Amino acid sequence: MKTTNIAIDGPAGAGKSSIAKAISSELGFIYVDTGALYRTVALYAQEHDLNTDEALIKSLDDIEIDLNFIGGTQRITLCDEDVTDDIRTPEISMGASRVSAIKEVRDFLFDLQKKMAREHNVIMDGRDIGTVVLPDADLKIFLTASADERASRRYLEMQEKSDCPTFEEIKADIIKRDYNDSHRAVAPLKKADDAVLIDTTDMGFHEVCEEILDLIKERLDIEV
Ligand code: DC
Repeated sequence: MKTTNIAIDGPAGAGKSSIAKAISSELGFIYVDTGALYRTVALYAQEHDLNTDEALIKSLDDIEIDLNFIGGTQRITLCDEDVTDDIRTPEISMGASRVSAIKEVRDFLFDLQKKMAREHNVIMDGRDIGTVVLPDADLKIFLTASADERASRRYLEMQEKSDCPTFEEIKADIIKRDYNDSHRAVAPLKKADDAVLIDTTDMGFHEVCEEILDLIKERLDIEV
């Protein structure tokens, strides 16, 4: 059976994951957060002091990553240990941006992403889903927002944490990651030619969901 695949790409903090979660639960699709894969490789590199690209490349065969879906929510394991919550730190965000520029790391994670899309109806979010991982996706969205807006959303999200960075720190991290992610030689962050661009700077969460659900109704042969 052919599965239906929806790709959502865009820069850090554009709202990809919350939007993709809401839409996938509406459609009964699996939401695959591919950033978590790069974050998990970064966690492995951090835990094993793999500070050079060469050292990390040599260790890739030892990295066992699995995705499981519990009540529609993605959990990720690294060598059988659940690391879903451990990968959400600013250091790992920056580490993920670093390791994601390594071609061998991208190749290593490619098959797992393809397999998920082959076996399930998915909404997959990331940076290169519409351009590299699922170039034949049934619908491609490129979600973006201004750096200020993205930083203030992240800041609001993170405020409950005791060690919340300042707004300026979050914004500086976002700008640095945008630069890294869109200037790397392999699979840089960019809008696929056939992706629909949605700038959410002045849009509310429900408005964005509605716009995407309308696109799904218009373009895909599925009930919404
Ligand atoms: O979506 P995120 O913030 O969790 O992603 C963390 C980093 O991983 C991001 O800065 C770039 C990288 N990434 C990537 O290169 N390709 C993807 N498909 C997803 C994430």
